[in-house]
Amino acid sequence: MNDADAAVHVADDEEALAEETARALLEAAEQAAARSGRFTMTLSGGRTPEALYARLAREPYRGRMPWGKVHLFMGDERFVPPDHPESNYRMVRSALLEKIPIPAVNIHPMPTQCAGPAECAADYERSLKTFFGAAGFPVFDVALMGLGEDGHTASLFPGTPALEEKTRWAVEVFPPLPSRPPCARVTLTFPVFNSARRIIFLAAGAGKARILKEIRQGPPDRYPAQKVQPVAGRLEWRVDRAAWSESRP
Ligand code: 6PG
Repeated sequence: MNDADAAVHVADDEEALAEETARALLEAAEQAAARSGRFTMTLSGGRTPEALYARLAREPYRGRMPWGKVHLFMGDERFVPPDHPESNYRMVRSALLEKIPIPAVNIHPMPTQCAGPAECAADYERSLKTFFGAAGFPVFDVALMGLGEDGHTASLFPGTPALEEKTRWAVEVFPPLPSRPPCARVTLTFPVFNSARRIIFLAAGAGKARILKEIRQGPPDRYPAQKVQPVAGRLEWRVDRAAWSESRP
């Protein structure tokens, strides 16, 4: 990742990070809806984005986002049923989807009840090709990315074959142990994320300070998150002061 090209926004705390990111997403959604009639975004899972999703579910964002033109996809998913405590979709549904006036057809969860994660990945790829067309990789307006302390993002974990995927849009992943939770995953791939118009990494808390510094200021190509490099879009980091505490401007 070319760090010099990445914009960095440092919020005072997690609440401010959620507010400022929600404001940025509202602006992006209004612009995309005016430009193309729709706004497409991949959502990340885990704990960090939950405050953002909850903020989008409250005013003024609940009332101002053009939800009828917003299409929400999952960047990755745990291979568990959609009502499982570890399901990313369950978290997104609880924090956001149940609280906003978004049409059901605009919600695109990753299937997790196929024969196996590989079948689910193929199923999701087919649905993406139906939505975006199959001429080339899909161009999401925003790809919202998380960051694990081991440098993974989405379910692109260190040492997994998914890191080398160049053609498939979605793949199955069997994370190295001890991953949290210890289950198979389905994830979009680097070619898809890197095709996005805007890639937003969200990181918060002192626990992310070391890995954030390593990724932005350490040697390149050591961590999966460093392979997120927009082909033609913009890359930005949105972090709180605690996560930023070991980095330099
Ligand atoms: C997942 C996420 C994953 C997450 C990071 C950070 O399925 O767990 O997609 O990539 O973003 O692990 O997780 P936290 O926000 O909980 O630290």
